Amino acid sequence: MPRRTWLMSRMFHLGFFSSFSPPAWHAATDRAHGEDWWSGDYHARLARHVEEACFDFLFFEDTSGVSRMFGGSMDTDLKNSLSAPKNDPVALISYLSAVTTRLGLISTASTTLYPPYLLARLYSTVDGLSRGRAGWNIVTSSEEESAHNYGYEALPPPGERYDRAEEFVDVARQLWTSWEEGAVVRDHDRGIHTDPAKVHEINHVGKHFKVRGPLNSFPSPQRVPVLAQAGGSPRGRDFAARNAELIMATTIGGIDAMRAFREDIHGRMKTFGRSPDECRIMYATHVHVTDGSRDLRSTVTDSQLVSMLGKHAAHIGVDLFQYDLDAPLPEDVVANGTTSMLDSIKDKGRQGITLREAILDICLGDDELGVVGTADDIAHNLAGAMEAVGGDGFIIMATQNANEEHVSGILDEVVPRLQRMGVARTGYSGATLRENLFAF
Ligand SMILES: Cc1cc2nc3c(=O)[nH]c(=O)nc-3n(C[C@H](O)[C@H](O)[C@H](O)COP(=O)(O)O)c2cc1C
Repeated sequence: MPRRTWLMSRMFHLGFFSSFSPPAWHAATDRAHGEDWWSGDYHARLARHVEEACFDFLFFEDTSGVSRMFGGSMDTDLKNSLSAPKNDPVALISYLSAVTTRLGLISTASTTLYPPYLLARLYSTVDGLSRGRAGWNIVTSSEEESAHNYGYEALPPPGERYDRAEEFVDVARQLWTSWEEGAVVRDHDRGIHTDPAKVHEINHVGKHFKVRGPLNSFPSPQRVPVLAQAGGSPRGRDFAARNAELIMATTIGGIDAMRAFREDIHGRMKTFGRSPDECRIMYATHVHVTDGSRDLRSTVTDSQLVSMLGKHAAHIGVDLFQYDLDAPLPEDVVANGTTSMLDSIKDKGRQGITLREAILDICLGDDELGVVGTADDIAHNLAGAMEAVGGDGFIIMATQNANEEHVSGILDEVVPRLQRMGVARTGYSGATLRENLFAF
């Protein structure tokens, strides 16, 4: 792609997308480090590396089941390491908080599966351990299997999941603020550790939850972890506009769609009485540094394609393997999972794009932004795209078949170029994730 000419001025934020699962299983080379991924060592190295590159945060996605979304069996998931094994990312970020000092650490937990008290206490604890660097990616879960592991007969429909999520966040917020500022006095002379007059029951009784409170954990440095969310449907956008401080969006549809999403969210925020300044909108994008060749598709092996299809089948809640890969996905397919992802595959189908190509577009980046290429081109195009969209940054994903060399290409080659262009930070001005996220 020829370089576009952009006027660049604004700094933007960077996050790195990861998963507490075997790294680079599908990479063609460099597989050795995957063997003891569960020890946290691989992610500790990654976290230090991401911190050296001055990213705002390292983000961990999560799901809670072994998928049977391929012909009713777990075989495809397990053989291809699609959604299992995957360990708990909240435990991982506790560990990572001890091996980093400035990097924000965001992990995912589901409002459909967790009880709010457990979650509020857990994140309060992690925020303390990390000295204020914790974030919570609020998801409602989109896989049937997760629901079966937590007592549901079926995953509740999306609207119901968001209803529960609204009440959940309201309860969690009340718990996090159930200790007033100054409640902990530690007055040895009077024999008072915590002033009982400043700690309050919340006595919440709602449709989904009954919680007395207060929280029994120590008020953490940020009080409330940074609340992140990634809902693309109208209901998801409303939820995010009302609650989130960080929205993780996609780059699907290119710059026009990214700008439209940002405007839409800002409009919704105003409806809920919030200023657009109270939320950062960051776009998750695959980035792949190559020595010039931009033809990633020809490097995708059958096993990688199965993996891409399988992951998306589980997210969407449809067995994609039953459809013709070389035809557009039929219009009448319905699902109970990630509806916005299904919609974008159908949108592509309407333009004559086959299921195979749609999945490759989503997994490798359809490169409308120019994020496959040399480090120079990628840095230039990321900065240009951000200037055209208006903010607030990118969450960088190594592509499906990325190995350590590719990760290093991003952190050691693309990021320094962004820093030299003056659009990425070269140091941390704040101590907490929230301070850094809202520093500019
Ligand atoms: C960058 C990004 C990260 C996401 N991470 C997760 C995740 O870790 N776990 C999960 O269940 N869903 C995840 N999702 C899905 C969203 O949380 C959301 O459930 C999904 O988009 C469905 O909601 P919607 O139909 O409103 O879009 C992610 C989505 C995006 C764009």
